[in-house]
Amino acid sequence: MRTVGRWLKTSKSWSNSSNQITDNSVSATLSKRRSCRSFIDREPPEGLVLDLIDKARRTPTAGNSQGVEFLLLDEKSLIDDFWGVSFSEKDRSGFSFPGLFKAPALIIPFGVPSLYTDRYKENDKSYTNLGGDKKDWKVPYWLTDAAFATMALQLLAIEVELETCFIGLFDREERIKEHFSIPESYEALGVLIMGYPDTQKVTLGRSQKRKRRPLNEVVHRGVGDFRCEKF
Ligand SMILES: Cc1cc2nc3c(=O)[nH]c(=O)nc-3n(C[C@H](O)[C@H](O)[C@H](O)COP(=O)(O)O)c2cc1C
Repeated sequence: MRTVGRWLKTSKSWSNSSNQITDNSVSATLSKRRSCRSFIDREPPEGLVLDLIDKARRTPTAGNSQGVEFLLLDEKSLIDDFWGVSFSEKDRSGFSFPGLFKAPALIIPFGVPSLYTDRYKENDKSYTNLGGDKKDWKVPYWLTDAAFATMALQLLAIEVELETCFIGLFDREERIKEHFSIPESYEALGVLIMGYPDTQKVTLGRSQKRKRRPLNEVVHRGVGDFRCEKF
């Protein structure tokens, strides 16, 4: 990765890869996507992950606020720090998915609420009354937008034969923010773990084994079509 002025430049050494998958349709890519919890110790080509982030950030943002940012950890010492701050030694040794720790890239997407409140103070958005306190936002669009970009990253990864697992940060978020000097106001979505899959050690998480709900249970049509008694 090169720095030119304040811009990071990506190299494109991977674009000639003969391993590119042939069917890159969105539906094929979506059907291939599964969370991967076991990675091999192999680094992606220099600049590849940064290039994926660059593409992923073209997803829509509310009012074009563009308040989504990412912390990319792709150096071994930083990745070790991340896991060290996240889990105690004891929790790590008993962890169900040790193959997660081998992933060569961790991406923490953030929503930056102030970029949204500032944007919604502008004339064309002032009618929304969302230019003040972020608590006024019924839907925190900074997290919506961060989630859109993160989904795009998961699909883009497949295109270059990388796999991912998104996990929550839960009570680890504050420790991680402090360790990596992340501004207090930045809201982390979770962490996207990215790398090459260990196809010898495919481990399904318990949640992953849950059956997909039928389409007719999740799609409602017209008026009063919400009859599911469970809720
Ligand atoms: C918002 C979100 C939070 C998640 N948190 C975790 C997590 O903390 N730990 C984990 O192992 N998987 C986590 N996952 C992955 C889900 O368990 C996984 O996506 C789900 O079981 C469906 O499996 P699939 O991704 O292979 O289709 C999370 C996924 C999402 C979207």
